[in-house]
Amino acid sequence: MSLKALKGFKDILPSDVATWQRIEATAREIFHRYGFTEIRVPILEKTGLFVRSIGEATDIVEKEMYTFEDRNGSSITMRPEGTASVLRAFIEHNLHLLQPIQRLYTIGPMFRHERPQKGRLRQFHQMSVEVLGADQPMVDSELMAMAWQLLTELGLKVSLEINSLGCPECRPAYNKALLDFVCERSDQLCEDCQRRRQTNPLRILDCKNEECREQYKGVPELPDHLCAACEDHFAEVKRLLALLEIPFKVNAFMVRGLDYYTRTTFELITTDLGAQSAVGAGGRYDGLVAQLGGPKNMPGIGFAVGMERLALLIQQNEMGEEPTPLDLFIAALGDEARDLAFKLMQACRKSGLKTAMDPAGRSLKNQMKQAGKSQARYTFIFGEDELANNKAILRNMVNKEQQEIPLSGTPDAWCDNISEKLK
Ligand code: HAM
Repeated sequence: MSLKALKGFKDILPSDVATWQRIEATAREIFHRYGFTEIRVPILEKTGLFVRSIGEATDIVEKEMYTFEDRNGSSITMRPEGTASVLRAFIEHNLHLLQPIQRLYTIGPMFRHERPQKGRLRQFHQMSVEVLGADQPMVDSELMAMAWQLLTELGLKVSLEINSLGCPECRPAYNKALLDFVCERSDQLCEDCQRRRQTNPLRILDCKNEECREQYKGVPELPDHLCAACEDHFAEVKRLLALLEIPFKVNAFMVRGLDYYTRTTFELITTDLGAQSAVGAGGRYDGLVAQLGGPKNMPGIGFAVGMERLALLIQQNEMGEEPTPLDLFIAALGDEARDLAFKLMQACRKSGLKTAMDPAGRSLKNQMKQAGKSQARYTFIFGEDELANNKAILRNMVNKEQQEIPLSGTPDAWCDNISEKLK
């Protein structure tokens, strides 16, 4: 029986790693420009952390978590997202005492037992950012601007959809209006919506069933039912986005799959990934820190982008990245030459040249072929005759010109000569 990776768990192969590194390096650089610092949190947490934050009646908690008993019988879960863990760490280490506003980011694998498809995995990676301690609409718009900048710098075109989910003041009245509307159509609704009426009314808006969607035409919309404070907040977020010239669309049906959101929510959407349209998503969660036992009045907002989806989009655009060519290939013939070539390779690598040689010591013809395949700019060639004459050949692989390089001193000295010629 051949051993394969688990379904929904993927290797990131060497040909893809350059794209991943570019995504991560671009993100880190932008996050730093916006004042974020990195935090690294564990992959395993107590199950209760996710139940209390993401919400008992969400798909993630009901059906998707990798939850099991630890050897001592306690229930633990492989994190399905980053926000809950970052907030747990923020509270546990009293980070709010260090700075009134904390800007944190974390990068790493998350785990959800979903049905795998293009852009949807069971182990996937997020770059997740959180701002704790600021409730001003400027922060909401600034975060969306940062996400927008990241995707633009990666060369991706997405659209930004925003919504406001209100607060504990206005949500109950909206839920009532929604349920009254739904009640009148209850016999035509799918089983999931019947259940959502009891457990999580807002999720009704997110139903993918065509018949339900038909029924929900004319449903009361959340942005029309906000209290004055939430309405002002949302208006200011929109004004500031327009001020920064970031295009957006209000999507009153966007409710998000996690229960902790209040007020602003947003998604960055692409049409290039089939069903998996969200490249990134987030929103405000003003009550969550207190709900997890942290300080009262500690507002928060954040978002996460999915790295697999970014990598897919970039590779769709660019057809992957070419591996960088070699500076130097060393073709050596004979045992003595091979030992010297091995030392020379080390010296060249130390001095900053991307260098390779043939570990199998095949024929010169074969080694030259290898040099060509690895797109080496130069090949350094020597065997017994060259060692006897104290001269090797440096061949420019582009214009095919050759020059002699003296083999005096140690391979370190040869390397200095070669580096000089390669400048
Ligand atoms: P989320 O919408 O569940 O939000 O996930 C954010 C992003 O992670 C998605 O837009 C998508 O790109 C990626 N993603 C989610 N599930 C998968 C999957 N199964 N396979 C591949 N990519 C996936 C959150 O996780 C929130 N914690 C975001 C946040 C941070 N809100 C506030 N702060």
